Amino acid sequence: MTEHWTPASWRSKPAKHMPTDYPDAAALSAAEQTLRGMPPLVFAGEARRLKGLLADVSEGKAFLLQGGDCAESFKEFHADNIRDTFRLILQMAVVLTFAGGKPVVKVGRIAGQFAKPRSEPIETIDGVTMPSYRGDIINGMDFTPEERNPDPERLLKAYGQSAATLNLLRAFAGGGYADLHNIHRWTLGFVGDSPQGARYRELSDKISEALTFMAAIGVTPESHPDLHRVEFFTSHEALLLGFEEAMTRVDSTSGDWYDTSAHLLWIGERTRQLDGAHIEYMRGVKNPIGMKVGPTVEGDELLRLIDALNPANEPGRLTLYGRFGSDKIADRLPRLMQATKRAGRSVVWAIDPMHGNTLKANNGYKTRPFDRILSEVRQFVEIAESEGVHPGGVHLEMTGQNVTECIGGARALSEGELADRYHTHCDPRLNGEQALELAFLVAEKLKDARETEPKAALA
Ligand code: TRP
Ligand code: MN
Repeated sequence: MTEHWTPASWRSKPAKHMPTDYPDAAALSAAEQTLRGMPPLVFAGEARRLKGLLADVSEGKAFLLQGGDCAESFKEFHADNIRDTFRLILQMAVVLTFAGGKPVVKVGRIAGQFAKPRSEPIETIDGVTMPSYRGDIINGMDFTPEERNPDPERLLKAYGQSAATLNLLRAFAGGGYADLHNIHRWTLGFVGDSPQGARYRELSDKISEALTFMAAIGVTPESHPDLHRVEFFTSHEALLLGFEEAMTRVDSTSGDWYDTSAHLLWIGERTRQLDGAHIEYMRGVKNPIGMKVGPTVEGDELLRLIDALNPANEPGRLTLYGRFGSDKIADRLPRLMQATKRAGRSVVWAIDPMHGNTLKANNGYKTRPFDRILSEVRQFVEIAESEGVHPGGVHLEMTGQNVTECIGGARALSEGELADRYHTHCDPRLNGEQALELAFLVAEKLKDARETEPKAALA
Protein backbone atom coordinates (compact mmCIF):
# COMPACT_ATOMS: atom_id res chain seq x y z
CA MET A 1 0.00 0.00 0.00
CA THR A 2 3.00 2.30 0.28
CA GLU A 3 3.65 1.82 -3.43
CA HIS A 4 3.64 4.80 -5.72
CA TRP A 5 0.12 5.95 -6.62
CA THR A 6 -1.07 7.38 -9.92
CA PRO A 7 -4.63 7.87 -11.20
CA ALA A 8 -3.99 4.76 -13.32
CA SER A 9 -2.22 2.54 -10.75
CA TRP A 10 -5.51 0.67 -10.12
CA ARG A 11 -5.09 -0.87 -13.57
CA SER A 12 -2.54 -3.40 -12.32
CA LYS A 13 -4.88 -4.66 -9.55
CA PRO A 14 -7.78 -7.11 -9.72
CA ALA A 15 -10.94 -5.15 -10.50
CA LYS A 16 -14.34 -6.60 -9.65
CA HIS A 17 -17.61 -5.56 -11.26
CA MET A 18 -15.98 -3.68 -14.10
CA PRO A 19 -16.94 -4.41 -17.73
CA THR A 20 -14.20 -6.25 -19.63
CA ASP A 21 -16.25 -6.80 -22.76
CA TYR A 22 -16.16 -3.49 -24.66
CA PRO A 23 -16.27 -4.65 -28.28
CA ASP A 24 -13.93 -1.82 -29.36
CA ALA A 25 -11.03 -1.13 -26.96
CA ALA A 26 -9.72 1.74 -29.07
CA ALA A 27 -13.10 3.49 -28.94
CA LEU A 28 -13.07 3.15 -25.13
CA SER A 29 -9.61 4.73 -24.89
CA ALA A 30 -10.71 7.53 -27.21
CA ALA A 31 -13.77 8.28 -25.06
CA GLU A 32 -11.64 8.33 -21.90
CA GLN A 33 -9.21 10.64 -23.65
CA THR A 34 -12.05 13.00 -24.54
CA LEU A 35 -13.16 12.98 -20.90
CA ARG A 36 -9.67 13.97 -19.81
CA GLY A 37 -10.10 17.18 -21.75
CA MET A 38 -13.48 18.02 -20.24
CA PRO A 39 -13.88 20.61 -17.48
CA PRO A 40 -14.05 19.24 -13.93
CA LEU A 41 -17.59 18.85 -12.57
CA VAL A 42 -16.58 19.94 -9.05
CA PHE A 43 -13.67 21.88 -7.61
CA ALA A 44 -11.12 20.61 -5.14
CA GLY A 45 -11.97 23.47 -2.78
CA GLU A 46 -15.59 22.30 -2.63
CA ALA A 47 -14.50 18.74 -1.86
CA ARG A 48 -12.27 20.10 0.93
CA ARG A 49 -15.21 22.09 2.26
CA LEU A 50 -17.34 18.93 2.42
CA LYS A 51 -14.49 17.13 4.16
CA GLY A 52 -14.48 19.87 6.78
CA LEU A 53 -18.23 19.51 7.29
CA LEU A 54 -17.87 15.74 7.62
CA ALA A 55 -15.14 16.33 10.19
CA ASP A 56 -17.84 18.21 12.15
CA VAL A 57 -20.07 15.16 11.76
CA SER A 58 -17.31 12.91 13.06
CA GLU A 59 -17.13 15.09 16.18
CA GLY A 60 -20.89 14.89 16.72
CA LYS A 61 -21.50 18.51 15.72
CA ALA A 62 -23.50 17.85 12.55
CA PHE A 63 -25.56 15.18 10.78
CA LEU A 64 -25.15 13.74 7.28
CA LEU A 65 -28.16 13.35 4.99
CA GLN A 66 -27.24 11.54 1.78
CA GLY A 67 -29.82 10.30 -0.70
CA GLY A 68 -31.02 9.89 -4.24
CA ASP A 69 -31.66 7.28 -6.92
CA CYS A 70 -30.17 3.82 -6.74
CA ALA A 71 -29.19 4.44 -10.35
CA GLU A 72 -29.73 7.51 -12.47
CA SER A 73 -30.77 6.82 -16.06
CA PHE A 74 -30.74 8.56 -19.40
CA LYS A 75 -34.45 7.92 -19.83
CA GLU A 76 -35.53 9.50 -16.56
CA PHE A 77 -33.34 12.57 -16.99
CA HIS A 78 -35.68 15.51 -16.51
CA ALA A 79 -35.60 18.83 -14.66
CA ASP A 80 -38.71 17.85 -12.69
CA ASN A 81 -37.05 14.69 -11.36
CA ILE A 82 -33.97 16.60 -10.26
CA ARG A 83 -36.09 19.27 -8.61
CA ASP A 84 -38.25 16.72 -6.81
CA THR A 85 -35.27 14.87 -5.35
CA PHE A 86 -33.72 18.18 -4.33
CA ARG A 87 -36.85 19.45 -2.61
CA LEU A 88 -37.32 16.16 -0.79
CA ILE A 89 -33.79 16.51 0.57
CA LEU A 90 -34.61 20.08 1.67
CA GLN A 91 -37.74 18.91 3.46
CA MET A 92 -35.91 16.10 5.21
CA ALA A 93 -33.10 18.50 6.13
CA VAL A 94 -35.59 20.90 7.71
CA VAL A 95 -37.07 18.10 9.80
CA LEU A 96 -33.66 16.84 10.89
CA THR A 97 -32.14 20.25 11.58
CA PHE A 98 -35.10 21.29 13.68
CA ALA A 99 -35.12 18.16 15.79
CA GLY A 100 -31.42 17.60 16.11
CA GLY A 101 -30.53 21.24 16.69
CA LYS A 102 -27.44 20.68 14.55
CA PRO A 103 -26.53 21.51 10.95
CA VAL A 104 -27.39 18.90 8.36
CA VAL A 105 -24.82 18.21 5.65
CA LYS A 106 -26.76 17.70 2.40
CA VAL A 107 -25.33 15.25 -0.12
CA GLY A 108 -27.19 13.93 -3.18
CA ARG A 109 -26.66 10.51 -4.74
CA ILE A 110 -26.92 12.36 -7.99
CA ALA A 111 -25.15 13.87 -11.01
CA GLY A 112 -23.02 10.77 -11.64
CA GLN A 113 -24.68 7.75 -9.98
CA PHE A 114 -24.83 5.57 -13.08
CA ALA A 115 -22.73 2.40 -12.73
CA LYS A 116 -24.04 -0.67 -10.91
CA PRO A 117 -22.33 -3.82 -9.66
CA ARG A 118 -24.19 -6.94 -10.79
CA SER A 119 -24.08 -10.39 -9.25
CA GLU A 120 -23.84 -12.02 -12.73
CA PRO A 121 -21.88 -10.52 -15.65
CA ILE A 122 -24.16 -12.25 -18.15
CA GLU A 123 -27.88 -12.94 -18.38
CA THR A 124 -29.61 -15.76 -20.28
CA ILE A 125 -33.20 -15.46 -21.47
CA ASP A 126 -34.81 -18.23 -23.59
CA GLY A 127 -31.40 -19.67 -24.39
CA VAL A 128 -29.95 -16.31 -25.50
CA THR A 129 -27.01 -15.00 -23.47
CA MET A 130 -25.99 -11.36 -23.30
CA PRO A 131 -24.06 -9.06 -20.94
CA SER A 132 -26.03 -8.03 -17.84
CA TYR A 133 -27.25 -4.46 -17.60
CA ARG A 134 -24.58 -2.50 -15.67
CA GLY A 135 -26.05 0.99 -15.61
CA ASP A 136 -26.56 3.59 -18.33
CA ILE A 137 -22.94 4.76 -18.27
CA ILE A 138 -21.98 1.28 -19.56
CA ASN A 139 -24.83 -0.30 -21.50
CA GLY A 140 -28.61 -0.27 -21.99
CA MET A 141 -31.39 -2.17 -20.26
CA ASP A 142 -33.22 -3.67 -23.26
CA PHE A 143 -32.29 -7.26 -23.98
CA THR A 144 -30.79 -6.63 -27.44
CA PRO A 145 -27.14 -6.83 -28.51
CA GLU A 146 -27.15 -3.11 -29.49
CA GLU A 147 -28.20 -2.15 -25.97
CA ARG A 148 -26.37 -4.74 -23.92
CA ASN A 149 -22.92 -4.42 -25.49
CA PRO A 150 -20.90 -1.82 -23.55
CA ASP A 151 -20.75 1.43 -25.52
CA PRO A 152 -17.99 4.01 -24.77
CA GLU A 153 -20.16 6.85 -26.09
CA ARG A 154 -22.20 6.37 -22.92
CA LEU A 155 -19.32 7.71 -20.82
CA LEU A 156 -19.62 11.05 -22.59
CA LYS A 157 -23.39 11.07 -22.37
CA ALA A 158 -23.19 10.39 -18.62
CA TYR A 159 -20.69 13.20 -18.23
CA GLY A 160 -23.01 15.57 -20.11
CA GLN A 161 -26.04 14.56 -18.05
CA SER A 162 -24.07 14.94 -14.82
CA ALA A 163 -22.92 18.42 -15.85
CA ALA A 164 -26.47 19.52 -16.70
CA THR A 165 -27.84 18.01 -13.48
CA LEU A 166 -25.20 19.67 -11.37
CA ASN A 167 -25.80 22.98 -13.10
CA LEU A 168 -29.47 22.87 -12.13
CA LEU A 169 -28.65 21.77 -8.58
CA ARG A 170 -26.24 24.67 -8.16
CA ALA A 171 -28.98 27.04 -9.35
CA PHE A 172 -31.53 25.51 -6.95
CA ALA A 173 -29.08 25.63 -4.03
CA GLY A 174 -27.91 29.18 -4.54
CA GLY A 175 -30.52 30.92 -6.65
CA GLY A 176 -33.35 31.39 -4.17
CA TYR A 177 -35.30 28.10 -4.44
CA ALA A 178 -33.79 26.84 -1.18
CA ASP A 179 -34.59 30.04 0.74
CA LEU A 180 -36.10 29.01 4.08
CA HIS A 181 -38.97 31.39 3.37
CA ASN A 182 -40.05 28.93 0.65
CA ILE A 183 -40.39 26.16 3.21
CA HIS A 184 -44.10 25.62 2.46
CA ARG A 185 -43.49 25.30 -1.26
CA TRP A 186 -41.22 22.27 -1.16
CA THR A 187 -44.00 19.81 -0.34
CA LEU A 188 -44.42 17.36 -3.21
CA GLY A 189 -47.97 17.24 -4.56
CA PHE A 190 -48.75 13.68 -3.59
CA VAL A 191 -47.25 14.09 -0.11
CA GLY A 192 -49.40 17.13 0.68
CA ASP A 193 -52.50 15.22 1.82
CA SER A 194 -50.64 12.49 3.75
CA PRO A 195 -50.05 12.36 7.52
CA GLN A 196 -46.41 13.28 6.82
CA GLY A 197 -47.56 16.27 4.80
CA ALA A 198 -49.63 17.50 7.73
CA ARG A 199 -46.78 17.00 10.14
CA TYR A 200 -44.43 18.86 7.85
CA ARG A 201 -46.89 21.78 7.53
CA GLU A 202 -47.05 22.06 11.30
CA LEU A 203 -43.27 22.21 11.54
CA SER A 204 -43.01 24.71 8.68
CA ASP A 205 -45.53 26.96 10.42
CA LYS A 206 -43.30 27.05 13.49
CA ILE A 207 -40.21 27.83 11.43
CA SER A 208 -42.05 30.53 9.46
CA GLU A 209 -43.08 32.12 12.72
CA ALA A 210 -39.49 32.06 13.93
CA LEU A 211 -38.34 33.63 10.64
CA THR A 212 -40.85 36.47 11.06
CA PHE A 213 -39.54 37.06 14.56
CA MET A 214 -35.95 37.02 13.36
CA ALA A 215 -36.71 39.44 10.52
CA ALA A 216 -38.26 41.79 13.07
CA ILE A 217 -35.03 41.82 15.03
CA GLY A 218 -32.94 42.36 11.90
CA VAL A 219 -31.94 38.82 10.89
CA THR A 220 -32.89 38.69 7.21
CA PRO A 221 -31.64 36.88 4.08
CA GLU A 222 -29.89 40.14 3.18
CA SER A 223 -27.95 40.23 6.45
CA HIS A 224 -27.64 36.40 6.66
CA PRO A 225 -27.33 34.88 3.18
CA ASP A 226 -27.37 31.36 4.68
CA LEU A 227 -31.12 31.75 5.18
CA HIS A 228 -31.41 32.05 1.45
CA ARG A 229 -29.23 29.19 0.20
CA VAL A 230 -27.91 25.75 1.04
CA GLU A 231 -24.63 24.05 0.41
CA PHE A 232 -25.39 20.97 -1.63
CA PHE A 233 -22.88 18.28 -2.55
CA THR A 234 -22.87 15.40 -5.04
CA SER A 235 -21.77 11.80 -4.65
CA HIS A 236 -21.78 8.46 -6.40
CA GLU A 237 -20.23 5.02 -6.15
CA ALA A 238 -16.75 5.07 -7.71
CA LEU A 239 -17.29 1.82 -9.57
CA LEU A 240 -16.28 2.50 -13.17
CA LEU A 241 -12.66 3.40 -12.57
CA GLY A 242 -11.83 4.33 -16.16
CA PHE A 243 -14.33 7.16 -15.87
CA GLU A 244 -13.07 8.24 -12.43
CA GLU A 245 -9.46 8.13 -13.60
CA ALA A 246 -10.29 10.35 -16.58
CA MET A 247 -11.91 12.89 -14.24
CA THR A 248 -8.95 12.94 -11.83
CA ARG A 249 -7.01 16.20 -11.84
CA VAL A 250 -4.25 17.89 -9.87
CA ASP A 251 -5.55 20.74 -7.74
CA SER A 252 -3.37 23.75 -8.48
CA THR A 253 -3.78 25.13 -4.94
CA SER A 254 -2.58 22.08 -3.02
CA GLY A 255 -0.84 20.00 -5.69
CA ASP A 256 -3.02 17.05 -4.62
CA TRP A 257 -5.08 14.72 -6.80
CA TYR A 258 -8.86 15.05 -6.71
CA ASP A 259 -11.56 13.06 -8.42
CA THR A 260 -13.51 15.94 -9.93
CA SER A 261 -16.52 13.82 -10.97
CA ALA A 262 -18.22 14.41 -7.58
CA HIS A 263 -17.52 15.86 -4.15
CA LEU A 264 -17.75 12.52 -2.39
CA LEU A 265 -17.13 9.03 -3.80
CA TRP A 266 -17.79 5.77 -2.09
CA ILE A 267 -16.61 2.17 -2.43
CA GLY A 268 -19.31 -0.46 -2.58
CA GLU A 269 -19.65 -3.54 -0.44
CA ARG A 270 -18.69 -5.75 -3.39
CA THR A 271 -15.51 -3.91 -4.41
CA ARG A 272 -13.74 -3.15 -1.15
CA GLN A 273 -11.02 -5.84 -1.40
CA LEU A 274 -7.87 -4.59 0.32
CA ASP A 275 -5.63 -5.50 -2.63
CA GLY A 276 -8.23 -4.63 -5.28
CA ALA A 277 -8.44 -1.87 -7.86
CA HIS A 278 -11.10 0.20 -6.13
CA ILE A 279 -9.22 0.61 -2.85
CA GLU A 280 -6.09 1.36 -4.86
CA TYR A 281 -7.77 4.16 -6.81
CA MET A 282 -9.55 5.71 -3.84
CA ARG A 283 -6.55 5.80 -1.52
CA GLY A 284 -4.85 8.32 -3.83
CA VAL A 285 -7.53 10.99 -4.26
CA LYS A 286 -8.02 13.57 -1.54
CA ASN A 287 -11.82 13.84 -1.72
CA PRO A 288 -13.88 12.84 1.27
CA ILE A 289 -14.72 9.19 0.61
CA GLY A 290 -17.09 6.56 1.89
CA MET A 291 -17.13 2.81 2.19
CA LYS A 292 -20.01 0.40 2.63
CA VAL A 293 -19.61 -2.02 5.52
CA GLY A 294 -21.70 -5.19 5.38
CA PRO A 295 -22.38 -8.11 7.72
CA THR A 296 -19.28 -10.16 6.86
CA VAL A 297 -16.65 -7.56 7.88
CA GLU A 298 -14.64 -8.21 11.04
CA GLY A 299 -12.96 -5.54 13.14
CA ASP A 300 -9.37 -6.30 12.09
CA GLU A 301 -10.27 -6.29 8.41
CA LEU A 302 -12.08 -2.99 8.87
CA LEU A 303 -9.04 -1.42 10.54
CA ARG A 304 -6.78 -2.53 7.70
CA LEU A 305 -9.14 -0.94 5.19
CA ILE A 306 -9.29 2.25 7.23
CA ASP A 307 -5.50 2.40 7.38
CA ALA A 308 -5.28 1.99 3.61
CA LEU A 309 -7.83 4.71 2.92
CA ASN A 310 -7.06 7.18 5.69
CA PRO A 311 -3.50 6.54 6.90
CA ALA A 312 -3.20 10.06 8.37
CA ASN A 313 -6.42 9.55 10.37
CA GLU A 314 -7.76 12.78 8.93
CA PRO A 315 -11.21 13.71 10.33
CA GLY A 316 -13.92 13.87 7.63
CA ARG A 317 -11.92 11.83 5.15
CA LEU A 318 -13.77 8.55 5.65
CA THR A 319 -17.44 7.79 6.18
CA LEU A 320 -18.48 4.21 6.91
CA TYR A 321 -21.99 3.22 5.86
CA GLY A 322 -23.20 0.19 7.77
CA ARG A 323 -25.57 -1.97 5.67
CA PHE A 324 -26.27 -5.06 7.66
CA GLY A 325 -30.01 -5.67 7.58
CA SER A 326 -32.43 -5.16 10.45
CA ASP A 327 -31.89 -8.74 11.62
CA LYS A 328 -28.07 -8.53 11.70
CA ILE A 329 -27.14 -5.03 12.78
CA ALA A 330 -27.44 -5.74 16.51
CA ASP A 331 -24.95 -8.58 16.19
CA ARG A 332 -22.48 -6.90 13.80
CA LEU A 333 -22.33 -3.17 14.41
CA PRO A 334 -21.37 -2.93 18.11
CA ARG A 335 -18.09 -4.80 17.67
CA LEU A 336 -17.16 -2.73 14.60
CA MET A 337 -17.85 0.53 16.41
CA GLN A 338 -15.81 -0.75 19.33
CA ALA A 339 -12.96 -1.59 16.97
CA THR A 340 -12.78 1.88 15.40
CA LYS A 341 -13.21 3.57 18.75
CA ARG A 342 -10.61 1.50 20.56
CA ALA A 343 -8.10 2.05 17.77
CA GLY A 344 -8.74 5.80 17.87
CA ARG A 345 -9.72 5.98 14.20
CA SER A 346 -11.61 9.08 13.18
CA VAL A 347 -14.56 8.01 11.01
CA VAL A 348 -18.12 9.08 10.42
CA TRP A 349 -20.44 6.21 11.22
CA ALA A 350 -23.58 6.38 9.07
CA ILE A 351 -26.28 3.88 8.15
CA ASP A 352 -27.48 2.61 4.77
CA PRO A 353 -30.72 0.87 5.82
CA MET A 354 -31.63 -0.04 2.24
CA HIS A 355 -29.25 -2.72 1.00
CA GLY A 356 -29.43 -5.18 3.88
CA ASN A 357 -33.23 -5.25 3.73
CA THR A 358 -33.94 -6.26 0.16
CA LEU A 359 -36.15 -9.22 -0.67
CA LYS A 360 -38.19 -10.68 -3.49
CA ALA A 361 -41.96 -10.27 -3.16
CA ASN A 362 -44.17 -13.24 -3.99
CA ASN A 363 -45.01 -11.64 -7.33
CA GLY A 364 -41.31 -11.43 -8.26
CA TYR A 365 -40.68 -7.75 -7.54
CA LYS A 366 -37.49 -6.83 -5.70
CA THR A 367 -38.66 -4.79 -2.74
CA ARG A 368 -37.80 -3.57 0.75
CA PRO A 369 -40.20 -3.59 3.68
CA PHE A 370 -40.38 -0.11 5.12
CA ASP A 371 -40.64 -1.39 8.71
CA ARG A 372 -37.30 -3.21 8.34
CA ILE A 373 -35.69 -0.03 6.99
CA LEU A 374 -37.00 1.94 9.96
CA SER A 375 -35.94 -0.79 12.33
CA GLU A 376 -32.36 -0.78 11.07
CA VAL A 377 -32.16 3.01 11.43
CA ARG A 378 -33.63 2.89 14.93
CA GLN A 379 -31.20 0.19 16.00
CA PHE A 380 -28.32 2.12 14.45
CA VAL A 381 -29.00 5.20 16.58
CA GLU A 382 -29.46 3.11 19.72
CA ILE A 383 -26.30 1.08 19.20
CA ALA A 384 -24.25 4.19 18.44
CA GLU A 385 -25.46 5.82 21.61
CA SER A 386 -24.71 2.86 23.78
CA GLU A 387 -21.22 2.58 22.25
CA GLY A 388 -20.57 6.29 22.79
CA VAL A 389 -20.31 6.91 19.04
CA HIS A 390 -22.12 9.73 17.20
CA PRO A 391 -24.86 8.36 14.92
CA GLY A 392 -23.54 10.47 12.07
CA GLY A 393 -26.02 10.13 9.27
CA VAL A 394 -28.20 8.22 6.85
CA HIS A 395 -27.59 7.12 3.26
CA LEU A 396 -30.83 6.40 1.40
CA GLU A 397 -32.11 5.29 -1.97
CA MET A 398 -35.10 7.52 -2.52
CA THR A 399 -36.88 9.60 -5.09
CA GLY A 400 -39.19 12.59 -5.13
CA GLN A 401 -41.40 10.63 -7.53
CA ASN A 402 -44.56 8.93 -6.31
CA VAL A 403 -43.27 5.40 -6.93
CA THR A 404 -44.41 2.10 -5.43
CA GLU A 405 -41.20 0.19 -4.81
CA CYS A 406 -40.86 -0.35 -1.04
CA ILE A 407 -43.76 -2.01 0.78
CA GLY A 408 -45.26 -0.59 3.98
CA GLY A 409 -45.16 2.96 5.30
CA ALA A 410 -48.04 5.04 6.63
CA ARG A 411 -50.16 4.12 3.58
CA ALA A 412 -49.26 0.46 4.04
CA LEU A 413 -48.26 -0.11 0.44
CA SER A 414 -48.93 -3.79 -0.33
CA GLU A 415 -47.06 -6.30 -2.50
CA GLY A 416 -49.94 -6.17 -4.95
CA GLU A 417 -49.46 -2.43 -5.41
CA LEU A 418 -45.77 -2.73 -6.35
CA ALA A 419 -46.76 -3.09 -10.01
CA ASP A 420 -48.54 0.29 -10.04
CA ARG A 421 -45.49 2.56 -10.36
CA TYR A 422 -42.35 0.46 -10.15
CA HIS A 423 -39.89 2.58 -12.14
CA THR A 424 -36.44 1.99 -10.65
CA HIS A 425 -33.54 1.07 -12.90
CA CYS A 426 -32.06 -0.97 -10.13
CA ASP A 427 -33.05 -1.21 -6.46
CA PRO A 428 -36.38 -0.22 -4.86
CA ARG A 429 -36.40 3.38 -3.54
CA LEU A 430 -38.35 5.13 -0.83
CA ASN A 431 -40.96 7.45 -2.29
CA GLY A 432 -41.32 11.03 -1.02
CA GLU A 433 -43.81 10.14 1.64
CA GLN A 434 -41.80 7.20 2.99
CA ALA A 435 -38.58 9.25 2.97
CA LEU A 436 -40.24 12.03 4.94
CA GLU A 437 -41.66 9.52 7.41
CA LEU A 438 -38.16 8.15 7.90
CA ALA A 439 -36.81 11.68 8.45
CA PHE A 440 -39.40 12.23 11.20
CA LEU A 441 -38.39 8.99 12.87
CA VAL A 442 -34.70 9.88 12.79
CA ALA A 443 -35.61 13.36 14.04
CA GLU A 444 -37.38 11.89 17.07
CA LYS A 445 -34.40 9.71 17.81
CA LEU A 446 -31.98 12.63 17.51
CA LYS A 447 -34.19 14.75 19.72
CA ASP A 448 -34.21 12.07 22.41
CA ALA A 449 -30.44 11.89 22.14
CA ARG A 450 -30.14 15.68 22.43
CA GLU A 451 -32.28 15.69 25.54
CA THR A 452 -30.18 13.03 27.24
CA GLU A 453 -26.87 14.58 26.15
CA PRO A 454 -26.14 16.69 29.28
CA LYS A 455 -26.76 13.64 31.45
CA ALA A 456 -24.43 11.53 29.34
CA ALA A 457 -21.76 14.21 29.63
CA LEU A 458 -21.96 14.14 33.42
CA ALA A 459 -21.84 10.39 33.65
N1 TRP B 1 -28.29 27.43 4.92
C1 TRP B 1 -28.82 26.83 6.12
C2 TRP B 1 -28.65 25.31 6.08
O1 TRP B 1 -28.41 24.78 5.04
C3 TRP B 1 -30.29 27.22 6.36
C4 TRP B 1 -31.21 26.77 5.27
C5 TRP B 1 -31.59 27.51 4.17
C6 TRP B 1 -31.86 25.51 5.16
N2 TRP B 1 -32.47 26.80 3.40
C7 TRP B 1 -32.64 25.57 3.97
C8 TRP B 1 -31.88 24.34 5.94
C9 TRP B 1 -33.37 24.45 3.55
C10 TRP B 1 -32.62 23.26 5.53
C11 TRP B 1 -33.38 23.33 4.35
O2 TRP B 1 -28.76 24.68 7.11
MN1 MN C 1 -28.68 0.12 -4.75
